[in-house]
Amino acid sequence: MDKKIETYIKKIEPQIKDLLKKANTGGHDVAHFKRTMNTALYISSKEGGDQLVIAIAAYLHDIHRLMQQIDNRYVKPSESLPLVEQILHKSSINLSKKEIDKILFAISHHEDYNWDGNNVDDLNTLIIQDADNLDAIGAIGIARAFKYAGVNNQVMYDESIPLEDFKGYEEKVKDVSTIHFFNNKLIKLGNNMNTKTAKTLADKRVNFVKAYIKEFLAEWHANYED
Ligand code: ADP
Ligand code: NI
Repeated sequence: MDKKIETYIKKIEPQIKDLLKKANTGGHDVAHFKRTMNTALYISSKEGGDQLVIAIAAYLHDIHRLMQQIDNRYVKPSESLPLVEQILHKSSINLSKKEIDKILFAISHHEDYNWDGNNVDDLNTLIIQDADNLDAIGAIGIARAFKYAGVNNQVMYDESIPLEDFKGYEEKVKDVSTIHFFNNKLIKLGNNMNTKTAKTLADKRVNFVKAYIKEFLAEWHANYED
């Protein structure tokens, strides 16, 4: 990572750790922020965009999730902007007004996507979205989902509901099990990537999740013959 970016993130980090002490989160921690940042920087190295803006915005993209945990209500990314600005200010890092605006824009819009295609016309934001979604699939995505399941009291699997029949995610029904969540959402996230670089990474991760589901079900049903 670029030295300047590394120094800036080091200056921001103590404030994020302070915030995290107050928030009890299932899948969001400083490691998620760092992974999202590193993956976003990798994508950016292939696809372009503003590396400094991408790194800081990716690192701070989920402040709204922490506020959500503290306030115990849904908090939109845009509602986190005053706190993000405060964090940047307190870190005394040297950012231009233009860079700050780009960071705030990317944080505010990083969740603006739907299953029919994207609606943000900003490469920095699209790259952060890709990196964030990549962190929900693959080996890490599986681990995060089980962590979420632990916090939210979700069972690993419910064999009474056929996987293929359950469309919980699209119908906004609560996921009945973590394996249902994998089948409903995670294996579909791969089709939702904005950049070619992320799509290649996502395909590998989705294949891993599919293989995981298959193995999990074979073990669950004591299906040892094939
Ligand atoms: P982010 O804000 O980083 O995009 P989310 O808050 O949507 O992520 O989710 C945090 C983590 O918890 C992700 O890895 C996600 O896949 C997982 N997760 C979210 N909803 C569920 C669910 N219903 N069952 C299992 N895991 C979930
Ligand atoms: Ni995130």
